[in-house]
Amino acid sequence: MQTKNIRNFSIIAHIDHGKSTIADRLIEYTGTLSKRQMEAQVLDTMDLERERGITIKAQTVRLDYQGKDGQMYQLNLIDTPGHVDFTYEVSRSLAACEGALLVVDAAQGVEAQTLANVYMALEHDLEILPVINKIDLPSADPEKVKTEIEDIIGLDTSDAVLASAKAGIGIEAILDQVVAKVPSPAGDRDKPLSALIFDSYFDAYKGVIALIRVMDGSIKPGMRLKMMATHKVFEVTDVGCFRPAPVNVGELSAGEVGFVAGSLKNVKDVRVGDTVTYADNPVAKALPGYRGINPMVYCGLYPVDSSDYDNLKDALDKLQLNDAALLFEPETSMALGFGYRCGFLGLLHMDVVQERLEREYNLKLITTAPSVIYHVYKTNGDLLKIDNPANLPPLTEIDHIEEPFVKATIIVPNDYVGAVMEISQDKRGEFKNMDYLDVNRVLIKYHIPLSEIIYDYFDRLKSSTRGYASLDYELTDYQTSKLVKLDILLNGEPVDALSTIVHVDRATQRGRQLAEKLKAIIPQQMFEIPIQAAIGNKVIARETVRAMRKDVLAKCYGGDITRKRKLLEKQKEGKKRMKSVGNVEIPQEAFMAILKID
Ligand code: GTP
Repeated sequence: MQTKNIRNFSIIAHIDHGKSTIADRLIEYTGTLSKRQMEAQVLDTMDLERERGITIKAQTVRLDYQGKDGQMYQLNLIDTPGHVDFTYEVSRSLAACEGALLVVDAAQGVEAQTLANVYMALEHDLEILPVINKIDLPSADPEKVKTEIEDIIGLDTSDAVLASAKAGIGIEAILDQVVAKVPSPAGDRDKPLSALIFDSYFDAYKGVIALIRVMDGSIKPGMRLKMMATHKVFEVTDVGCFRPAPVNVGELSAGEVGFVAGSLKNVKDVRVGDTVTYADNPVAKALPGYRGINPMVYCGLYPVDSSDYDNLKDALDKLQLNDAALLFEPETSMALGFGYRCGFLGLLHMDVVQERLEREYNLKLITTAPSVIYHVYKTNGDLLKIDNPANLPPLTEIDHIEEPFVKATIIVPNDYVGAVMEISQDKRGEFKNMDYLDVNRVLIKYHIPLSEIIYDYFDRLKSSTRGYASLDYELTDYQTSKLVKLDILLNGEPVDALSTIVHVDRATQRGRQLAEKLKAIIPQQMFEIPIQAAIGNKVIARETVRAMRKDVLAKCYGGDITRKRKLLEKQKEGKKRMKSVGNVEIPQEAFMAILKID
């Protein structure tokens, strides 16, 4: 296709504003799939995923559309992940586009992630087309939302499409605006190949599939290509596009979007942001913006039943096939035995991986509290990057410690400004500035340690603003903080997996609260269990789990063996998520208790 008839665009929106529903309507309206096929397709996809463990990226899709001028256009809708954990992936998807639909809920208005995404789209010089969705809702106020978009973002909304993806209103207008306003891609098919990888997934039959936007040149089966960052050379077996199922085409040329597959077996060879070029006649310079993957949050994963250790490794290997951002390496804990230290892009990513391991691989896991990466400067001049509090060197060897900070953007109705400030201050946040978005909504910026965001910041924001707060954050820098390791001793023995790194000013309070919490969580046993919180050699808090007085079996005097068995079964049931440390049984919640402390 000639580049003048190609349009590449994304949809950007805050979560739940209707991105997926609009994408579905565009697919339906352009006849890419009929309504009936659409339902069938969705089901198919799920079955395939289940049976073969593959993911079909249904939302990056090529649509054919006849414009008002009678010409046929190739519209490539490129999916962007919606969550703050995947900012870098969003930015690569946007780099593959010339335009973006900015979808804003007509009842909710502009939210934190709307803004974060718009700023990113503007950085990529995209043409932004505002779409006000959900105008069918009784509480919709499109005029107010238009004013918000103009005032906050500074976009002209005189042509904004008023849409209801649910009722199918405004869909044709969206397509016409994409044709009329999104610039056609620049690029020359006769130049040497450069193509941007913006996503990838693992297919059990074809190996790794790279989703690409061709900038210059063209790709055909049989060509020998090279990844510029990973240096991987491969031969192309398939090129194609998504409709939304993958369909092979003979060629992808400058300006087009689609997939390429070949002798690629490892997702790590195919990095988002990398440039694909000819193996023998490469372009001199890679496309800008490539960045390695850096997990921000780490935690330990340990099988409850240590005989599951190999199963856990297999499961992690399999998950990694589709998730190059997941890192893991073996780790041993004095308390928990053999497990893995895993790195994630953020908290959502961590939750998703844990849940998949437990659900799809039937593993019972103990997970330790998440930690960020601390930069520990030792007195001898060495720099250690520590992602596990248990590995912090003794106090005497530490000169100072730096921790990661983020810029947090919070949007709330102005009634809740006080609550946001209180929580943020409590989380060691430094107030930056505050802007009124309109008469009753405010945008607040804080510079705040990432570790504090991990510790239930968003949960607390949500609950004290009746769910109205929206949050976005990005890593900005590392700064020195007065941090110490808080150890927990059970029965006089330190339990490494319960250690955390905390700010010195809060250490005593946290230590006390944690000891109290653990007292409530750790079940009584036949003997007394002292719980101590300590910093270095200094014990700062002590609690005791009293010895159990009654024998569970005491009630079943003599004969009733089934009853006895039932009681023992019940006890065993309760033990599933416990780990014996020395002679103390510690339940899973204990390892997360630190997250639940105010
Ligand atoms: P995430 O995938 O979670 O980011 O959400 P999304 O932005 O893709 O939103 P999605 O399309 O899943 O829509 C969120 C909810 O809004 C769903 O329950 C939709 O049915 C509903 N919705 C989408 N468009 C409309 C609309 O035009 N009117 C109404 N009333 N509801 C809509």
